[in-house]
Amino acid sequence: MTITLPNLVPASQFSVDELTDAYNQTRVDYLVPMPMNAARLQEYIRVYDLDLEKSFVAKNGERIFGLGMLGLRPQRSWITRLGVLPNNRRHGIGEMLMEAMLEASDHAGIPRNILEVIKGNTPGHHLFKKMGFTESRELVILRRPPSPVSGTLASEAQWFSKAEAIPFLDERKGPQAWTNETESLQNVDDLFGMQICLNGRGQGWLVFQKTDFNLSRLMFQTKDGDPEAIMLEMLAHLHSKFPKLDTYTENIPADDPHLLAFSRMNYINVFERIEMCRKIQ
Ligand SMILES: CC(C)(COP(=O)(O)OP(=O)(O)OC[C@H]1O[C@@H](n2cnc3c(N)ncnc32)[C@H](O)[C@@H]1OP(=O)(O)O)[C@@H](O)C(=O)NCCC(=O)NCCS
Repeated sequence: MTITLPNLVPASQFSVDELTDAYNQTRVDYLVPMPMNAARLQEYIRVYDLDLEKSFVAKNGERIFGLGMLGLRPQRSWITRLGVLPNNRRHGIGEMLMEAMLEASDHAGIPRNILEVIKGNTPGHHLFKKMGFTESRELVILRRPPSPVSGTLASEAQWFSKAEAIPFLDERKGPQAWTNETESLQNVDDLFGMQICLNGRGQGWLVFQKTDFNLSRLMFQTKDGDPEAIMLEMLAHLHSKFPKLDTYTENIPADDPHLLAFSRMNYINVFERIEMCRKIQ
């Protein structure tokens, strides 16, 4: 079957409701179901600094075929929400959308593009390799259903407001996933922090988002001591304080030494992503 190739229109010409509908239609058969509603997409656009002028919708007449969104921050851009409607795939539309976003990014003088693809998403992975992206690392997505914490706490925790917690984030070493960069967290409401000092065994901090329904966006660092022991104690504090809340946290590097503590605290590995980068010489 041949199709008439669509035109690419900046996403800024569509309402968030229209973008949400289009996004959901491209993901009906997705590996990990992630439907959005308009309020969530609006929040996503704000938190992750998406630029709708540089994001695109593939359209022919009134028919939408697909879309892709571009986040912009100094010296880097992020490709997200890319999708083509199932019946219109394999006609070059995904590639057209990617080319348009990369051109907009290059035109803005951005030297590095980042994206993530779920492990096992062969079409996405092949497309991104074709567009010049290479794998940088693997990231894990974790969830913990509410459950009591067994054992006793071995330290006191100090709890912080968002304004007090944000400076901790800049102590992190190495690149963070886009969703976990300080810029993302600054844009998030209901952010809190905590610090512990484990008698003679080290210290660490944890920053997290807490709503009425769940805990999320766990960011952390061991200042000194064994990362597994420090993280276990921080998680014990967190889940003792909020025993009824579900927890979801994403994009922790798969080789992070704190991960052992998460599995000991009954976190489940929900799925994995591959982070990919493209650098302009
Ligand atoms: C990934 C996706 C956007 C590709 O869109 P598309 O319009 O079908 O892709 P194109 O026709 O432009 O294909 C471009 C390249 O992508 C790769 N590709 C696309 N579909 C593929 C498939 N089923 N298997 C292997 N490679 C594939 C190929 O490298 C292809 O180049 P080629 O035609 O020279 O082989 C589409 O499959 C989709 O919407 N999937 C669901 C949402 C999703 O996975 N989004 C990416 C999330 S990170």
